[in-house]
Amino acid sequence: MWVLFIFYTSFSTYFLSNTVLGNEVCPNFSPDPLRLGNLQFGIHMKTSCFRSFYGISITECATECLLRKSRCKSVNYWRISLKCQLCQNMTGGDNMGPSNGGVHSDISTWSQSFASSCSEKNCGYLERCMPNRAAGPSNKHVCDISECPLPEVKPGTAIDQETGVGVTLRYTCINQRLKYTGNPFITCQSGGNWTGSDFACDPYELVFQITPGVGGDVYEAWMHGGNYTTNSDKSCQTLGKNPSCKFHFRSSILDRWSVEVKSMVKVGIYKDGREVHNITFKAVGSNLESWFSRPNVLSTTYTGILHTNTFIFFSIQGYDTMRRFYINLNFDGCPKDIAWMMVIVESKPNGCQYDKQPDLPAIIYVTNPEGGLIDKDLYSKPTLGQHLY
Ligand SMILES: *[C@@H]1O[C@H](CO)[C@@H](O)[C@H](O)[C@H]1NC(C)=O
Ligand SMILES: *[C@@H]1O[C@H](CO)[C@@H](O)[C@H](O)[C@H]1NC(C)=O
Ligand SMILES: *[C@@H]1O[C@H](CO)[C@@H](O)[C@H](O)[C@H]1NC(C)=O
Ligand SMILES: *[C@@H]1O[C@H](CO)[C@@H](O)[C@H](O)[C@H]1NC(C)=O
Repeated sequence: MWVLFIFYTSFSTYFLSNTVLGNEVCPNFSPDPLRLGNLQFGIHMKTSCFRSFYGISITECATECLLRKSRCKSVNYWRISLKCQLCQNMTGGDNMGPSNGGVHSDISTWSQSFASSCSEKNCGYLERCMPNRAAGPSNKHVCDISECPLPEVKPGTAIDQETGVGVTLRYTCINQRLKYTGNPFITCQSGGNWTGSDFACDPYELVFQITPGVGGDVYEAWMHGGNYTTNSDKSCQTLGKNPSCKFHFRSSILDRWSVEVKSMVKVGIYKDGREVHNITFKAVGSNLESWFSRPNVLSTTYTGILHTNTFIFFSIQGYDTMRRFYINLNFDGCPKDIAWMMVIVESKPNGCQYDKQPDLPAIIYVTNPEGGLIDKDLYSKPTLGQHLY
């Protein structure tokens, strides 16, 4: 008996144990099935992995992959925890990351013979091939649905990528401060289908809400906070009418605007708890004041704003120390001023009739999307929300 060193050039393989015992005179010598595929130490595939197993060896892990030939392209393995992960993508690309104690292996470097008779069989994408020893040669294996597709990642949500039949997963919001609606659970059914889910994360987080009639200059409140604002009172974070709130709500996110506000800001005008108008602004690269301008408007129910580029005022600071969050087309004598919204914080003798409001601040907006003469609408409540992803 000799000791043979067998290398197969068809595999560019790093052998963990590359010595195989054989007998040169054996006439039917065949490739040894115990030979491992190419192992890459200290890295793992970060995404596209669809199924985990625990307490199995790397050979069993690769076998599970080979039994899912249509889908499984590589495996991750952790030698300490004996954890195995099957992945949809081939090794390489942006998808690889470092892993302490991890091993990664591309399944194309493994011998098909680990899958025994299933090596000849192509089951469906969601299926696992099972050798069927009891059956005759014409039916050596069966295909069973064993996983679902990777779950849909809805905007702003996170969900585990674990898809075995019977598994229940839970959606969460990436930004845990955001509110959500709907059922967060989905279950992989025996047919390879997920149960449906209406889960959705509210895309906006409330950062500022003006409470009419409680006093204070909302421009100062927006810019610096000050004594008419609260950062924490939950009763001031309910959208729309809320008699128990005596402050303007101001989130501390406003103090970190350029760092935290990466996408969009929405201004919503509320009346009786319902949004009646909104304006969405591009906010990337803006500061606390500059986002509120005509060029940044992305969409709005105030279509008239989109039809013109010249405004006498389109700013948070607004006019004098009287009108804030002010979008106004022209000054044409008070009754003929065409505006969309303003927040009156101070009434001066030289002001217009509509500046003389009994309770300040007063939020005034027009109902006509094209803009118009100012309707008095004291108890509407504009709120400012910011989009976080
Ligand atoms: C995984 O493979 C799919 C299909 O080839 C590809 O579209 C996707 O970008 C890959 N994912 C990563 C993270 O490389
Ligand atoms: C899975 O979903 C598809 C598409 O909605 C549907 O055609 C099929 O009948 C579903 N199968 C099962 C087992 O629910
Ligand atoms: C809050 O600000 C107003 C206006 O500046 C001022 O009159 C009032 O005294 C302040 N209240 C407190 C408690 O600081
Ligand atoms: C603005 O309001 C319209 C009409 O109510 C609504 O369809 C749209 O979704 C709102 N936009 C945002 C960003 O909330």
